[in-house]
Amino acid sequence: MTTRYRVEYALKTHRRDQLIEWIKGLLAVPFVLHSQPTAVFEPNGQTVEQMASVAQRRYAEIMRDVEEIVNDHINHQKVGTEDRSKLKLLVPTVANFFTPLALHDAFIWQDQRRFISYRRFVPPSFNDIRLVLNTAQIMSLVRGGPLELVTFDGDVTLYDDGQSLTPENPIIPRILRLMRNGSKIGIVTAAGYTEARRYSERLYGLLEALHTSDFPQDIKQNLVIIGGESNYCFKYSGDTPDLLKLVPGKDWLLDEMMLWSETDITELLDLAEASLRDTVKNMRMQAMVVRKDRAVGIIPQDGYKFSRETLEETVLIAQKVLELSPVGRRLPFCAFNGGNDVFVDIGDKSWGVLACQRFFGGIEGGKTLHVGDQFLSAGANDFKARLACTTAWIANPAETVQLLDEIAELDEIQQRKTR
Ligand code: IMP
Ligand code: MG
Repeated sequence: MTTRYRVEYALKTHRRDQLIEWIKGLLAVPFVLHSQPTAVFEPNGQTVEQMASVAQRRYAEIMRDVEEIVNDHINHQKVGTEDRSKLKLLVPTVANFFTPLALHDAFIWQDQRRFISYRRFVPPSFNDIRLVLNTAQIMSLVRGGPLELVTFDGDVTLYDDGQSLTPENPIIPRILRLMRNGSKIGIVTAAGYTEARRYSERLYGLLEALHTSDFPQDIKQNLVIIGGESNYCFKYSGDTPDLLKLVPGKDWLLDEMMLWSETDITELLDLAEASLRDTVKNMRMQAMVVRKDRAVGIIPQDGYKFSRETLEETVLIAQKVLELSPVGRRLPFCAFNGGNDVFVDIGDKSWGVLACQRFFGGIEGGKTLHVGDQFLSAGANDFKARLACTTAWIANPAETVQLLDEIAELDEIQQRKTR
């Protein structure tokens, strides 16, 4: 029987974030009750300001309640009973939180910028709530003490898909500001290359800016790049021409990662490659298969654009095949849709972030923020970073700039308070 449940489940879950959808549902109630769409053509009622102030109060009250439900979940986490929290019953896919979330204050902050409460026809949306969650996360991080490590995804987060971090990129001065304030920086990207030169070609704007900055040498050293999700590590060295140098495995690999055997790696990549080839054939895709040491992927033949549906189908098949295989249970892997390519990498970004934390001497998840664009539960690679640290979900590089500006503004406010 094709029930509505099955259709929703099979077709939608990998494209939905259940926590966001749940909050959206809660906010729909005050929207229905307090927005005044008829005021547009019947001007004698409430003013838009009056309406917005009532709606804002109601929305903010709900966000306060959600904040408390998250705190209750955190209390359960502390004693190992998170499976029994109220939040877990309401949102079964919810993971653990590394910090509380300042949802009430974050809602007011975003409402002052996005005028959510002023809207009469468009209810609080997925994007409104995603941005409120980001603000709530950074508010809690900034209030809770110094942000020790910020890790960034590459494509779509620092620069447009497939592009490079060029010198005029407005993210550069903002990353330098974080470094000047003592935060360590990691770039945790799927892009997997074995040579420093390839990363230095893609990140040269940032590397050059750091090189020519007046920062003391020890601050300059606070930048690492983890490539292929969690397979290669390079650090800023200042040695020309690449400005980067390979970090030996013993300085960054976690003990568990040392146990990943070459035989398992080959077996998993063989299986992934066979699945990708099969889908390429069945879906008549104009694709080339790329096999690397620690990854296998398909990329389009020149100028060709795959449809979103085809890319997702390819990822979901590979993911399922690997999940069900014995080697896929032994070895972490990450299958994802890169926008116009599909890759299966050994390891994932949770290991990438953990490696950065270890490299910098053991930074905690609650003092680390990972910024990325891929947070859907399947076919996305930043999602796994949630296992290692707090996260912010951005939609494009301009939103990363905004997020970093928000951190700077919140830092200012915090410093004024403690002065
Ligand atoms: P990210 O957004 O920085 O994680 O980069 C993802 C993109 O890197 C993918 O969409 C690919 O286009 C590219 N890429 C290059 N080499 C690899 C690899 O070995 N594994 C996965 N992605 C790769
Ligand atoms: Mg990305």
